[in-house]
Amino acid sequence: MTDRQRPVGVFDSGVGGLTVFRAVRRRLPAENLLYLGDNARVPYGSKSRETIVRYTEECVSTLVERGVKCLVVACNTVSAVALPTLQSRFPGIPVLGVVEPGALAACRASVSGRIAVIATRSTVNGGAYVAAIHRYRPDAQVVSLPCPLFVPLAEEGWFDGPLVEGIAARYLGSLFAADPAPDCLVLGCTHYPLLSGVIRKVIGPEPVMVDSAETTADALAAMLVERGLDNTSGQCGSNAFLTTDDAACFAQIGARFLGGDVCRDNVSHISL
Ligand code: DGL
Repeated sequence: MTDRQRPVGVFDSGVGGLTVFRAVRRRLPAENLLYLGDNARVPYGSKSRETIVRYTEECVSTLVERGVKCLVVACNTVSAVALPTLQSRFPGIPVLGVVEPGALAACRASVSGRIAVIATRSTVNGGAYVAAIHRYRPDAQVVSLPCPLFVPLAEEGWFDGPLVEGIAARYLGSLFAADPAPDCLVLGCTHYPLLSGVIRKVIGPEPVMVDSAETTADALAAMLVERGLDNTSGQCGSNAFLTTDDAACFAQIGARFLGGDVCRDNVSHISL
């Protein structure tokens, strides 16, 4: 197998990163993709930096042993907290996170420079989104807000209804009722795009919502070409999924995030 044919590794704490996997699959149909979800230990978003780094290193070592040519960190929490550690621990493979592409997309989309970021608690506390947005746009006024209940809601498939609307209103209502309100909202967590309908109801029609999945897929495409690692075989790439927990459960819940069937035969359980 040539370097170009080696798989792209996509890592997430669980199934949420399948929103990024889906964007990568659409953008790069010829790439072989190998996804790893650490479902046994999800959520990462409420854990300490040390724990997140340790879990991540274990998972990424597994992907590296399986020969990935590069790594996409689909998890916002890991991207926000552990990216520099990963880049120095695995110098042999390029590592791409979702924070930088998301921040860039927000800076391009916002006219007023007032940008809100919603994410897990660890992502917010790590401050990586605020720092990345300020790198592209030093004058931006950034508010970041944890919305931890959105993760279990998305996994349950509760995307709408009065209960979910009430939770979204409690998190976001006053911020977007303020004058002036942010004109851009970054969905800084893999799960939040699934709740975009209810979030839109609360924030109103004006603010632009940024989801980093598409911009990350674009950044990956550019990086592969730049490094001569793009798969030029002309054939359709393969999809393979690894999970640290139950494979059938991964396939079932994963379908919600992938927006289509996760073929159970393509999912394998691994122990770390
Ligand atoms: N994947 C995580 C993120 O994007 C959400 C789930 C978790 O807390 O592990 O931040």
